[in-house]
Amino acid sequence: MAVGMNKILVIGIGLFVSCLLLRCEEVDGKEYIVGDEKRWSPDANLTQWTEDKKFKAGDVLVFEYKDPLLMVAAVRDKYLFDKCDLYAGVIKLYTSGNDHAVLEKGTIYFAPYPSPYCENGMKLTVHVE
Ligand SMILES: *[C@@H]1O[C@H](CO)[C@@H](O)[C@H](O)[C@H]1NC(C)=O
Repeated sequence: MAVGMNKILVIGIGLFVSCLLLRCEEVDGKEYIVGDEKRWSPDANLTQWTEDKKFKAGDVLVFEYKDPLLMVAAVRDKYLFDKCDLYAGVIKLYTSGNDHAVLEKGTIYFAPYPSPYCENGMKLTVHVE
């Protein structure tokens, strides 16, 4: 009898925790796979990719890539970003190949680092409300 009650309690707590987690995910905002099926790659048209999207603080950008040359630098400085001077401008570097960048308000720039792809135009500008 006592064992049965414990089991029910454990299941109850489990359900409660998973509900809590699910709800947290909702509050945290939307997840976007950068570049959709092309992922984070020189083939993706990132300008086009942002066109129909409205980003909010708490949304998450997922950068998926295999090539270590595509590690993602987040930059806040437009001048340095325009010049692809990422080394001077990087505020955060993502390196895992399955990177989750949580967006904060304002304009954030992303480019591959340390590859020459930035100079070739592989750049992502995101305006976050
Ligand atoms: C990317 O998409 C934009 C907007 O649709 C378009 O103007 C531009 O030519 C495209 N760039 C490339 C390299 O295809």
